[in-house]
Amino acid sequence: MNTNKSKEIFEEAKKSIPGGVNSPVRAFQSVKKDYPIFIESAKGSKLFDEDGNEYIDMIGSWGPMILGHNYPEVLEVVKSEMEKGTSFGLPTKKEVVLAELVKECFPAIEKIRLTTSGTEATMAAVRLSRAFTKKNKILKFEGCYHGHSDSLLVKAGSGLLTFEHQDSNGITEAVTRDTITAPFGDFEKIKKIIEDEKDIACVIVEPIPANMGVIETSKEFLEFLREITRKKNTVLIFDEVITGFRISLGGACEVFGIQPDLVTLGKIIGGGYPVGAFGGKKEIMDLISPVGNVYHAGTLSGNPVSVAAGIKTISILKENPEIYKTLEKRTKELVSKIENLIQKYEIPATVNYVNSLFTIFFAKDKIENLEDAIDTSDEMFAIYFDTMLENGIIVPPSKYEAHFISYVHSDEDYEKFYFALEKAFEKIKNSL
Ligand SMILES: Cc1ncc(COP(=O)(O)O)c(C=O)c1O
Repeated sequence: MNTNKSKEIFEEAKKSIPGGVNSPVRAFQSVKKDYPIFIESAKGSKLFDEDGNEYIDMIGSWGPMILGHNYPEVLEVVKSEMEKGTSFGLPTKKEVVLAELVKECFPAIEKIRLTTSGTEATMAAVRLSRAFTKKNKILKFEGCYHGHSDSLLVKAGSGLLTFEHQDSNGITEAVTRDTITAPFGDFEKIKKIIEDEKDIACVIVEPIPANMGVIETSKEFLEFLREITRKKNTVLIFDEVITGFRISLGGACEVFGIQPDLVTLGKIIGGGYPVGAFGGKKEIMDLISPVGNVYHAGTLSGNPVSVAAGIKTISILKENPEIYKTLEKRTKELVSKIENLIQKYEIPATVNYVNSLFTIFFAKDKIENLEDAIDTSDEMFAIYFDTMLENGIIVPPSKYEAHFISYVHSDEDYEKFYFALEKAFEKIKNSL
């Protein structure tokens, strides 16, 4: 496969953009590639690079593309919205429509604010929790990623782990001290921290972590978090930036039947355009300015194009419940075939999945937390990535990420995936 143009663009990119990319995982560094491929366009389940190569996309822009790229009905509303103007800095009726639509799907959300990214949503939710509880610290889980605001960048999953860091430089000691971390799923440690530490404003969790690879959560763990935070007057935040509208219409809240105090959203609610949102109990949300004194704002918050794409995407998902069923069925089939191939080639690998998200971990035993994920093989993952790419399949360029399936991936796409996977496993077997 000829990727010379990508190589040339990368050389040029490095001169003006740090590392040549605007988000670190895109550099393909952790899968030992000299340069990433540069995408020129996308359609349905496919990506096309600058050299004209076609790939089956298993990244889905890290989550938003549940209907595939440029789903015709979404594209149509985006085009017509753009003709009306692309940003007003004043409120629009459609923001109310999106707010009501999201509220219908998430009973935990009584009021909601839109942002431009998931990072802003989690940052605002943390600030709001501090104001509501009048406490300072936050508790997050090792390997869970909640965007790149200072207080949430401690032991923060994929983007950092890919480059073998757990924390970012440039964050003050005071901020780091106020962020307490615990291993995901460790009932005892978490209980002790919450009982000993009186100053915890919020516990923030990816209810199904997908930034240390996908981790399969137990309902008991989330119920435990709900109980213990309720007792301690600590705000429970479900960060559903990935899981919201991805694993079901009502995200993990619906799947597990748990109501957190605040929920953060992003990705799918913008239908592939820049967006984020945070919402929850009225008494907490009404602390936000101009009702209360917690500041939150944004020039592009509630951007009309993103909002229109979000309304259309959510409406399609809502009106066609078979989409989630189909995605779940296809992912189950896919995972079962991958597991058969793991056995056939005797590869030390295991798969975690939830609805349309999955991660292949190159390790023998089940992966349950960050420590397990770190111990998986970088070398085998690099062979996997490389072979899939050579065969026209783009999988995540980091062992700490999830594959995202879309509704428009076809039987032919899956057949090509298995064909490439057999080749990858054969190479891995020969490398053992
Ligand atoms: C769970 C989770 N929360 C928050 C974010 C941050 O969202 P954004 O990249 O839109 O800032 C991400 C991004 O991948 C995420 O996966």
